[in-house]
Amino acid sequence: MTVHFIGAGPGAPDLLTLRGRDLIARCPVCLYAGSLVPEQILEHCPPAAKVINTAPLSLDEIIEHIAAAHAAGQDVARLHSGDLSLWSAMGEQLRRLRDQDIPYAITPGVPSFAAAAATLGQELTLPGVAQSVVLTRTSGRASAMPDNETLANFARSGATLALHLSIHALGRVVEELVPFYGADCPVAIVWRASWPDERVIRARLSTVEAALEPAMNRTALILVGPVLAAEDFDESCLYALGYDRRFRPQSAASPFADTAPEMLQDDSAEPGKGQ
Ligand SMILES: C[S@@+](CC[C@H](N)C(=O)[O-])C[C@H]1O[C@@H](n2cnc3c(N)ncnc32)[C@H](O)[C@@H]1O
Repeated sequence: MTVHFIGAGPGAPDLLTLRGRDLIARCPVCLYAGSLVPEQILEHCPPAAKVINTAPLSLDEIIEHIAAAHAAGQDVARLHSGDLSLWSAMGEQLRRLRDQDIPYAITPGVPSFAAAAATLGQELTLPGVAQSVVLTRTSGRASAMPDNETLANFARSGATLALHLSIHALGRVVEELVPFYGADCPVAIVWRASWPDERVIRARLSTVEAALEPAMNRTALILVGPVLAAEDFDESCLYALGYDRRFRPQSAASPFADTAPEMLQDDSAEPGKGQ
């Protein structure tokens, strides 16, 4: 018996991994975080599956359901939105499972910040503009922020920010970021990325509050940083003519010349892979 924690993706039912889909299809019990996991994903459950929405349950109640499945020798599919490594409350469940010697496995999912970037049609790291993305949030009722994880501390780096769980605090976010990024810094708000009713607002720090529509509450990401409007960024060396690299040695004297043929026999060395 195993509890399979599965990242259910940002919303579109087909943004689920094949592994996740196949696991859901063979687990007789499915617990899903109903506030964000799309119902269509539950269609992969076997017809007789016991399907439980955990949105109204406490942690104790969730663990009771899992322990009951464990006692009955039934695998469990445990679905959370996006990827499990970010604000999924998986950590506290895993700790309880370890305490009870209940086996688990984790299958990652598409995180919402990646879906939002896809919606925007943008790379969040551009050469010479930003090479880091800070995945963060502002303080909320459920979780306070550790003392050093302030917006000001992150903003000092000038990195691209992906602010989760913060759309209700947009005013405060703007106030705290303007001193570092400037009022003209581009901002994008992606509401319900990949859902059929997805919405996008592109603005500047100075204008974004006025542009926000009241319906765009919850389930929105605030992306901030110069990358969002950068056009004259450098090209990376990766595909530059004359750039000597493992997969494209430039001469027989290249330090990569000897290894390249053997690398090319390996699947992971196909162009476009493993870069
Ligand atoms: C509890 S966190 C879950 C994050 C999730 N584990 C992930 O990988 O993205 C919920 C927050 O993620 C963001 N979020 C989740 N799904 C989203 C979507 N489809 N579009 C925009 N933001 C989303 C919102 O900021 C929302 O408040």
